[in-house]
Amino acid sequence: MKGETDAVTRSAGPLPGDQGAPSSVSPFPVHPSRSYDVDLLRTTEFPWTADTIYLNNASIGPLPERTRLVLDEFNRGRAAPHKLPDRELFAMLADTRRRIAQLVGASAEEIALTVNTGFGISMAARALPLAPGDIVLVSDKEFPANVYPWLRLKDRGVAMELVPTTAEGWPDEARLLERLRDPRVRVLAVSLVQFSNGYLVDLGRLSAATRETGAFLVVDAIQGIGQLPLDLSRTRVDVLACGAQKWLLSPWGAGFVYVHRDLIGALDPAITGWLSFEGTDDLTRLTQYDDTLRADARRFELMTLPYQDFAGFNASLELLLSIGIEQIRDHIATLHQPVLAWAERSGARVVSPRGASGSGILCVAPEGVQAVHRRLKAARIVCSLREGAIRFSPHCYNTVAEMERVAQALASD
Ligand SMILES: Cc1ncc(COP(=O)(O)O)c(C=O)c1O
Repeated sequence: MKGETDAVTRSAGPLPGDQGAPSSVSPFPVHPSRSYDVDLLRTTEFPWTADTIYLNNASIGPLPERTRLVLDEFNRGRAAPHKLPDRELFAMLADTRRRIAQLVGASAEEIALTVNTGFGISMAARALPLAPGDIVLVSDKEFPANVYPWLRLKDRGVAMELVPTTAEGWPDEARLLERLRDPRVRVLAVSLVQFSNGYLVDLGRLSAATRETGAFLVVDAIQGIGQLPLDLSRTRVDVLACGAQKWLLSPWGAGFVYVHRDLIGALDPAITGWLSFEGTDDLTRLTQYDDTLRADARRFELMTLPYQDFAGFNASLELLLSIGIEQIRDHIATLHQPVLAWAERSGARVVSPRGASGSGILCVAPEGVQAVHRRLKAARIVCSLREGAIRFSPHCYNTVAEMERVAQALASD
């Protein structure tokens, strides 16, 4: 991360009160200044990497073995539900909130568990105090999950304004800052990392600008969290939504929304679940109907949640935190090198930004891009074709040797 978020060092390891943690001994102890053992990670957690080069985490992150085992174990209990008492399920969800908070520099009270990214963005669109005539700024070319919930606010007289991208197709931050000066602009909604080119916004800069104008900053973080460090205690964001199915290597159905502590009480959730209310703490007296919303972010949760997915999410969070997100970021940057060297040699266009605006997503647009993509597929290299470019999204378990094979396959026409 850039600017304010540069100096993040999150300590991993067991959390206080972590009795529900799926496994307590990690083979990947935290070594803040050293890299981790990628070969060990591959054989223990991603054994299928022996025959496939998977570079598609921006689409679907694989489940580590420990997560798959936790899911199997959970489902065994689910087949005989007396083995899954409510108290253990709720404790497991509390662990998940704590681990997410550790990951993003928040407190657990600011985390609500959700089933995907879209839920958090829609919640923000409906709950933020917006009035007719207000404007929501969104960069053109954003992923649609961060567009449609804002577009639909026209039913309230709130307009979404798409701000054109730069010539390279990246969010035009200077233009966004300029438009923020319009007092009608009440929300800036951005992806932390763009899905089609990997552009990483300067969150510190956008945050400072929204603080100045009083606009709300809403972040779709699904393409960033898990591959890039983020410290929300240092960079003010109002609402941040994230699904866990990509870089967080977790089951579909797991995700979260962060709501800044100052906003929780002020936001009236448009839709609520029965566990959003304080009165439902006591499951033996549910029909007293006390409609006091919870004071923490659980007021935004929709119960019943897919518990098995959060049990899996917990296990994946444990793994990622034990490796260290800074280590993962640095590792991925190394992985990009062989493909960048090929692009330099061949003159292929690199669609992704380099340097401070770069991320773990690397997109290239060689001549005959569709044929090249087919060639990669035939070589058992899994990646995506997005917006006219080949998108590589390697993660913690990929190797430089794999990326050298990718560069060879790119070169062999
Ligand atoms: C930027 C971005 N936001 C959101 C999503 C997905 O949203 P959801 O988790 O709601 O399915 C994706 C990819 O699928 C994405 O790339």
